[in-house]
Amino acid sequence: MVETKSIEDNKLWEAIFHRKSIRKYKSIPLDDKTLSLVRNFLEELVPLKEDIKTQFMIIGPDDIKSLIPLKKAPHYIAAFSENKRGYRVNIGFMLQQMDLFLSSHNIGSCWVGMAQPKKDILEKTNLEDVILLSLGEADETLHRQEIGEFKRKKLDEISDTEGDNEFLEPARLAPSATNNQPWYFTGNENQIEVYCTRPNFIKARVLKKWNPIDMGIALYHLFLHFTVKGKKVEIITDNNKKDEKKGYVHIATVILN
Ligand SMILES: Cc1cc2nc3c(=O)[nH]c(=O)nc-3n(C[C@H](O)[C@H](O)[C@H](O)COP(=O)(O)O)c2cc1C
Repeated sequence: MVETKSIEDNKLWEAIFHRKSIRKYKSIPLDDKTLSLVRNFLEELVPLKEDIKTQFMIIGPDDIKSLIPLKKAPHYIAAFSENKRGYRVNIGFMLQQMDLFLSSHNIGSCWVGMAQPKKDILEKTNLEDVILLSLGEADETLHRQEIGEFKRKKLDEISDTEGDNEFLEPARLAPSATNNQPWYFTGNENQIEVYCTRPNFIKARVLKKWNPIDMGIALYHLFLHFTVKGKKVEIITDNNKKDEKKGYVHIATVILN
């Protein structure tokens, strides 16, 4: 069992370096076999915080309403959560596993913050609706071939770690809402402090819901990277280091052994 999981982890890890958001889909739905693969993987998502209740539903294009004109995908995963401290970070951490899984199985996907499940879907759960992930057969190039195709900040813009900071590369490549890449990292390969930029007043209105999801995504990329490299990874999210770094919110300490 352990071996099977590590093969899967390797495939997810490789997807970090090739994935991209897919926004154009063929209008045909995924076949039943593929959908059950997705359904089974939903059961395997690893939470960052085990004490937060979550729920994931696979819904169709008619089940969502969009805040802006949107070419719809054949399927969406709607993520719901109990509203508890760190719940958005937790959803980012969990659903990014699915984003990488889909990419590694040649299925297109994209995080969707600008749409919401319709009322009849919301009525099926007492948990809060957090975010959607679209999925389906891609009608555009599915993968990136080279790292240069990622539009991302440079490592020294997102970290003050001295010397070799290549271990942050998987987090650097993480997707984020409006590609705003709100993360900042300090520390070293044994202990990393993870911060989120505090957005200015205007941006905050748009980004405050999404920044924590972005941080969960980047944390999962770090977690997966070090797991694949054979390290024991501990992520502490409740250590109240909030005011330590001006202009940033402390999100987590990652301890590697
Ligand atoms: C929380 C979140 C919300 C997002 N919402 C949308 C969205 O509503 N529409 C969209 O086209 N892309 C959305 N994206 C995708 C980002 O725009 C995309 O990840 C980013 O531009 C980086 O591009 P890449 O994923 O191709 O690497 C979202 C991403 C995240 C993480």
